[in-house]
Amino acid sequence: MAYERTVEAVKNVLSNSYKDGAVKIAIKNIKGGVAKSVTTATFGRLLAYYGFKVLVIDSDPQGTLTSSYGANVNSDKYSDEKYNASEINENEYNIGDVIFGYCDIREAIVNLPDLELDLIKGDLTLIKHTDLIDTVKYYSKDKILNYFSEIGISLNQEDEEKLISQEYRNMIQEVLEPVEKDYDFILFDMSPYYSSLNENVLCISDFVIVPAIMDKSSQEGYNFLIEKLDEVKDINPNIDILGILPTLYRSSTNLHKLYLESLEEEVEEYIFEPIPMNTKVSEANSYEKTIFDISKGNKAARAYEKNTRLLVNNIMKFNNSEVRFPI
Ligand SMILES: Nc1ncnc2c1ncn2[C@@H]1O[C@H](COP(=O)(O)OP(=O)(O)O)[C@@H](O)[C@H]1O
Ligand SMILES: [Mg+2]
Repeated sequence: MAYERTVEAVKNVLSNSYKDGAVKIAIKNIKGGVAKSVTTATFGRLLAYYGFKVLVIDSDPQGTLTSSYGANVNSDKYSDEKYNASEINENEYNIGDVIFGYCDIREAIVNLPDLELDLIKGDLTLIKHTDLIDTVKYYSKDKILNYFSEIGISLNQEDEEKLISQEYRNMIQEVLEPVEKDYDFILFDMSPYYSSLNENVLCISDFVIVPAIMDKSSQEGYNFLIEKLDEVKDINPNIDILGILPTLYRSSTNLHKLYLESLEEEVEEYIFEPIPMNTKVSEANSYEKTIFDISKGNKAARAYEKNTRLLVNNIMKFNNSEVRFPI
């Protein structure tokens, strides 16, 4: 492939700059419906297509990203009265199951051979896991133990101590460690709200990409996100915004143009090329495929392709490397 040598050079930079060579990117906006999941799915797919080793983690209980890759989301899992490891089928674990020790991270990773990437699925039980992390975050030891026994989880002494002493914002870090060396990119799709699970993801990410619709609501969301990132920097001082990605963009809509212009003037962060609004994208989504797999020539697919190269180039810039994909 034409990009082979650049890909090798990029991998080299990544392996020198990031822990075990994996760069971790959170795709986050406080707003829903701004194409976070479509963006994560498409960037993940394209990075893999270019030849990078990619793990995509769906940390949103809605599981939108999971189904957009054609992977099924198990809804029965949530309805189980008592939720425990023995009732979860293989290939149906999520990142919360890994955090709380129901499985090893390798058991939660599903390989998608057609897309040439790996996925950790998301499902509704991530709501329960978020509650558990909140419990660790807000309550005393006795309350934590009571909470666990009430929901039918019995912890052994070792787990108990680990959980209580654990800094609630570092819970994902430890479980990811064994597999980081297997990947060049680890991408996180995230829910819009600001949960302790999201906070965990931000505390271990190297970069954030912010998909945003060019209107008032998205700008408010952006300001809120900046505030939250400042808090995260206590724990993870190295986190950077890799860029803002204008999504669902209509160049014929004056409002979109005006907001894009004002964003370009007001923020210092990088602004990616807008992704045009195009019905084929939502069509692709309903076929459980990415736009790139449905129609490579489509304008939105081409914009995502170009932005994937810009994404990598921006990471190279952050690392003072001269390596670049041709744009
Ligand atoms: N470029 C686009 N053109 C048209 N529809 C899009 C585009 N990007 C996303 N969509 C649609 O917008 C909706 C929200 O996208 P989604 O990725 O689920 O947002 P979020 O994860 O931020 O909630 C979905 O129905 C999706 O198919
Ligand atoms: Mg989503």
